[in-house]
Amino acid sequence: MSDGFDVSVAGVHLPFPAMNASGAWSSTAAELRDLARSASGAIVLKTATVHPFLHPEYRSLHNPGFDKMVPLVRELAADPARPVIASIAGAAPDEYATLARAFADAGAAMIEVNFADPYVAATLAPFEDRDALRAVLRKLVAASAVPISVKLPERTPLGWRALSAELLDAGVRVAVARNDFAGFEKLLLESGRQLEVIAVGGVESGYDVSRALAKGAKAVQVGSALLREGPQLFARLEREMRAARARLAGGRGS
Ligand SMILES: Cc1cc2nc3c(=O)[nH]c(=O)nc-3n(C[C@H](O)[C@H](O)[C@H](O)COP(=O)(O)O)c2cc1C
Repeated sequence: MSDGFDVSVAGVHLPFPAMNASGAWSSTAAELRDLARSASGAIVLKTATVHPFLHPEYRSLHNPGFDKMVPLVRELAADPARPVIASIAGAAPDEYATLARAFADAGAAMIEVNFADPYVAATLAPFEDRDALRAVLRKLVAASAVPISVKLPERTPLGWRALSAELLDAGVRVAVARNDFAGFEKLLLESGRQLEVIAVGGVESGYDVSRALAKGAKAVQVGSALLREGPQLFARLEREMRAARARLAGGRGS
């Protein structure tokens, strides 16, 4: 259906280079099944923690706990059409290892580590201490049979160069970073283009997807626009990208 737009991120095949952002259309089994029937390039789960999470200060992390999600991952991963990406967060390195192992075992094709959430900054604080960052990344990579991607906050005290070196050293090849020049574009430049990047933030149209890809992102994630429009958004993005490609080809031919 999305011929010609498929991509591979850390060896994981995506039939289309746009997918839901974690937490967008991914809070219930019904929403995730909707995504499975859509043109989304992947199904990204809402961030899961080891235990049910209901802290009133950190609403974006509210979830029922990973064990409630694992059976659904098994169901969704049985369909090879699009990969399942599990998103995980916690306060301690062992929690990340437990979550990565459980979701990879259930069939997730990639584990997205949510280091962008304020709760993670307030507890694990992964960017405050390079040794601590190294320790949690190594644990994650060792625990997971599938690629790890790290969702980054808008900025870190480490800076993109040092951060990308730590990610690559630990065996992390994929980062999810803000969709702008100060975000993923600089991260790509500072990593010597060795990281593969998924851009997130403000994607609303096929043009936005094509622009991020032209700037070097492998794929994009869509949050707010998906919440507004529902999963048919992905078919619209595809139509818009196809129309732009046809216009470009027509322009070249004339
Ligand atoms: C209602 C809602 C819930 C979210 N939940 C999560 C989450 O569980 N994990 C996560 O990593 N990001 C979460 N996010 C952030 C999105 O994944 C995304 O990074 C953000 O919305 C920016 O993309 P956008 O500009 O397309 O909305 C959430 C965002 C919204 C709007």
